Amino acid sequence: MKKKISEKDLRALAEAAIAVKKNSYSPYSHFKVGAAVVAPDGQIYAGTNIENASYGLTVCAERNAMFRGVCEGQHEFAALAVCTDPVEGEAFGTPCGACRQVMTEFMDLNAPILLISLNKKGSRKIYKKKLKDLIPFPFLKPGK
Ligand code: THU
Repeated sequence: MKKKISEKDLRALAEAAIAVKKNSYSPYSHFKVGAAVVAPDGQIYAGTNIENASYGLTVCAERNAMFRGVCEGQHEFAALAVCTDPVEGEAFGTPCGACRQVMTEFMDLNAPILLISLNKKGSRKIYKKKLKDLIPFPFLKPGK
């Protein structure tokens, strides 16, 4: 199994998260999010946030991306990228707590997380973090 992800894979992952964002179904918040994960075999799975008239049923882009991979038989992801519009007053948008918890199920705590802020003119800022930066003291599955 491939352990360390290449810079080329990370660039492709970022492009996938950026590209899928346009398909976000977010008529209530108008906040479009795209996310993508890469499996150890290099396969990329992308997802968007999907909202609902019953607001609480909304599912974030990050979980949709991971769950697409899981539905294809993948149980491990080497990295995740998430792309949002610029968030007022913040340098970048970050995954919610529920998505961070789900990431710990399928990702190493040292896995890279790319936080991408894309403005209306198409210019992007990319911040690279590790999963353990996002979720200290994680609740992990037995044996992890
Ligand atoms: N959202 C995501 O998809 N991912 C995040 O990282 C944070 C929030 C979505 C949920 C909802 O559709 C919209 O953004 C506003 O909260």
